[in-house]
Amino acid sequence: MKLLVTGGAGYVGSVCATVLLERGHDVVIIDDLSTGNADGVPEGAQFLEGDVATLATEVLGTDSAAPRFDGVLHFAAQSLVGESVEAPDKYWQGNVVTTLTLLEAIRRSGTPRLVFSSTAATYGEPDHSPITEADPTRPTNPYGATKLAIDHAISSYAVAYDLAAMSLRYFNVAGAYKGAGENRVVETHLIPLVLQVALGQREKISIFGTDWPTSDGTAIRDYIHVLDLAEAHLLALEAAQPGRHEIYNLGSGAGFSVREVISACERVTGLPIAAENAPRRAGDPAILVASSDRAIAELGWQPKHTDLDAIVADAWAFLQDLGDRSHAARR
Ligand code: UFG
Repeated sequence: MKLLVTGGAGYVGSVCATVLLERGHDVVIIDDLSTGNADGVPEGAQFLEGDVATLATEVLGTDSAAPRFDGVLHFAAQSLVGESVEAPDKYWQGNVVTTLTLLEAIRRSGTPRLVFSSTAATYGEPDHSPITEADPTRPTNPYGATKLAIDHAISSYAVAYDLAAMSLRYFNVAGAYKGAGENRVVETHLIPLVLQVALGQREKISIFGTDWPTSDGTAIRDYIHVLDLAEAHLLALEAAQPGRHEIYNLGSGAGFSVREVISACERVTGLPIAAENAPRRAGDPAILVASSDRAIAELGWQPKHTDLDAIVADAWAFLQDLGDRSHAARR
């Protein structure tokens, strides 16, 4: 298929683009590099740098009788829970307004398929665990609210304009694949931050909240390997049906507390990791664990890299390699 990938220089987008190329798809990437890296763009993809909505509108064109692309995978987004509480404007403008423009471009160009990066943050604090797609959506932060608003918009576009749409609700994505991993200018995610402590780039990790209603008092998340996530995108693209918008949760199905993640990082790196207790971070729910039963049953998806130590090991190898590369570049 000929595919337009927004955010393909970012973490998840670049891994997915790599896998799409490996499977023989033709990939055009659009990214404004606000959080992604030009280095992350996989070899073999055509790369256009600039505003996602503007470029997508240009690239997709307006001849609905002859669509230029078979589908769009829309990864480009602002995606930090904490930041969204402090700067909601960035999220409503950056996520919702951009995606509404993209949806219009998809409609006008007659592009038949869309796979959208939704999130577990659309659910908010769940009543039970694991979370299914039928559970209520009550986001506890603007990030989740913007992604939920977009999911609603996609649903109405799919039905009215015969779009084949899929929203994939990612839980906590981690790990790396073929030189593509978490490499953000400003890092706020738990696993890379803990590994930065092991690398000596950070003095300690702050544990945001030790009074959550969990076994060790720290928040629980479901960590999914980025390669398993990429496989789900390929399956979603194939399974999408015109006029339908399907939503799938994607996680490994097991929850790990912040302390358990730190212990896994200590085991993998063989190094002690200094940690301090800190207050809860605004917008965070206590526990987010996915039921991915629907994706398993309907898409034929099966997460293969579910062992937390193995996920951390891939992230660790990536960060060490990144350090070696930047050291070599400075010499
Ligand atoms: N945490 C710490 N200390 C840190 C960083 C994080 O204790 O320095 C905690 C957080 O409070 C949270 C957990 O570690 O309880 C995971 O936090 P991340 O920032 O790694 O990830 P989030 O759960 O906040 O969010 C991630 C993605 C979202 C997605 C969500 C879905 O960034 O896009 O997972 O579960 F919506």
